[in-house]
Amino acid sequence: MSRPYVIDEMISAKAIAARIEALAKEIEARFKGTDKLVVVGLLRGSFVFIADLVRELDLPVEVDFLEASSYGNSTVTSREVRILKDLRGEIAGRDVLVVEDIVDTGHTLKHVIGLLKSREPKRLSCIALLDKPTRREVDVKADWIGFEIPDEFVVGYGIDYAQRNRNLPFIGAVRFTDGA
Ligand code: PRP
Ligand code: MN
Ligand code: MG
Repeated sequence: MSRPYVIDEMISAKAIAARIEALAKEIEARFKGTDKLVVVGLLRGSFVFIADLVRELDLPVEVDFLEASSYGNSTVTSREVRILKDLRGEIAGRDVLVVEDIVDTGHTLKHVIGLLKSREPKRLSCIALLDKPTRREVDVKADWIGFEIPDEFVVGYGIDYAQRNRNLPFIGAVRFTDGA
């Protein structure tokens, strides 16, 4: 059983959309002229972000997914990143953009970047909607960040708490109401 909580809006759907529009322009500038950008969403958390981001990108794109999980149903990272589902496509010699919802300790993104780099893409960049720099345990940084946020437990826009709340259209902070 999870503790009782309420969700306080932290970043509105409108603010997210405006930020994605700006980020898409920067990504277009970086990858202008690419024959094809392979946009890799890290499941499950990035499914909403990648859907909105690719629709703003005026570039030839391929969409692929990779599932890496370190938290499972827990709220604490295991620090052990498991690949639950690999890419369908080849990325050797291609331009690749990894799309993540949030960088917390950094274990997930670092592991995925290491794995994908070993496949020798032409260029590999990463974008994360949210960054919690104060939580970092390993040295990793996305090339583009949507919003830097404080160390609060967030949900919505793809991000879950015990597999719930991924469908909220905004980013919210979880506030426990049992006083513990
Ligand atoms: C969450 C989140 C990031 C990762 C960030 O995924 O979506 O992928 O944790 O944490 P880290 O920087 O400490 O590694 P989770 O493992 O919960 O899987 P999910 O995306 O399926 O919710
Ligand atoms: Mn995730
Ligand atoms: Mg999760």
